[in-house]
Amino acid sequence: MNLIEAKNLTVTLGGHVALRDVDFQISQGEIVTVVGPNGSGKTTLLRALIGAIRPSGGSVRHQPGLTIGYVPQGLAIDPTLPLTVARFLNLPRRRSAKAAAAALARAGAAGLDQRPLTALSGGQFQRVLLARALLEKPQILVLDEPTTGLDQPGSAAFYHQIEEIRQSLGCAVLMVSHELHVVMSASDRVICLNGHVCCHGTPDVVASAPEYRALFGTGTRGALALYRHDHDHGHDHGHDHNHAHEHHHDHEHSENAPRPERESADDI
Ligand SMILES: Nc1ncnc2c1ncn2[C@@H]1O[C@H](COP(=O)(O)OP(=O)(O)OP(=O)(O)O)[C@@H](O)[C@H]1O
Ligand SMILES: [Mg+2]
Repeated sequence: MNLIEAKNLTVTLGGHVALRDVDFQISQGEIVTVVGPNGSGKTTLLRALIGAIRPSGGSVRHQPGLTIGYVPQGLAIDPTLPLTVARFLNLPRRRSAKAAAAALARAGAAGLDQRPLTALSGGQFQRVLLARALLEKPQILVLDEPTTGLDQPGSAAFYHQIEEIRQSLGCAVLMVSHELHVVMSASDRVICLNGHVCCHGTPDVVASAPEYRALFGTGTRGALALYRHDHDHGHDHGHDHNHAHEHHHDHEHSENAPRPERESADDI
């Protein structure tokens, strides 16, 4: 069963139709990335999918008991707020020190617990937000532009951490990213949004779609060539798009391949 499934999702915000007729699903262990220009409804889609915004049309269904870890876009913290990382992780629910420390370690932010939240670097802060999301023991991690403000190595390290978390927890990842090279190399599926779904499918299918090129130009072909070179494997997930390209199966990477089992996440 899909973790989250949306059908004909339409969202109206302040009289403005932000999303129209979006169909979406994500299953266990998948990484799905949403791309699209500013104002194209990416954040709206994520918030509707996690249940934070009520759809004005269509439906969103969750697998019963679904646990979601959400890292919002650009969480602003009042710079005068005297809050340590440890206290921040205890909001809104109190956590054991052991669980907090384990989540920080998993997010690559070990040892930051006594630091003031407002004194963290951008990358450290994003990792603390990730740790907070991990405390939910998520079956799905939802990340809205989590590397905004990070430099290129910082953002690469952050995505690497997310991949490690997916491997060890077996959780699905749904993220918004403007970093097309990351999308191309790290996603199972890409959804290109512009108020509606322009195109979707495996990264290379989306990158060669005319709708995607109309939005992003052809500048990502270089990144895609690099992706093909570095990650020469098939992404045939059996989704509803045309597979006109050839697959070179150096190793299998399909939905049928065994996914890592979910750890008992009791220690986070
Ligand atoms: N509360 C609101 N009231 C009215 N319109 C809104 C509201 N929130 C968002 N919108 C509009 O909905 C559209 C989609 O916004 P959304 O934040 O989902 O875009 P986005 O794709 O995440 O953009 P960005 O890349 O800038 O983060 C935009 O046109 C935005 O102005
Ligand atoms: Mg947004």
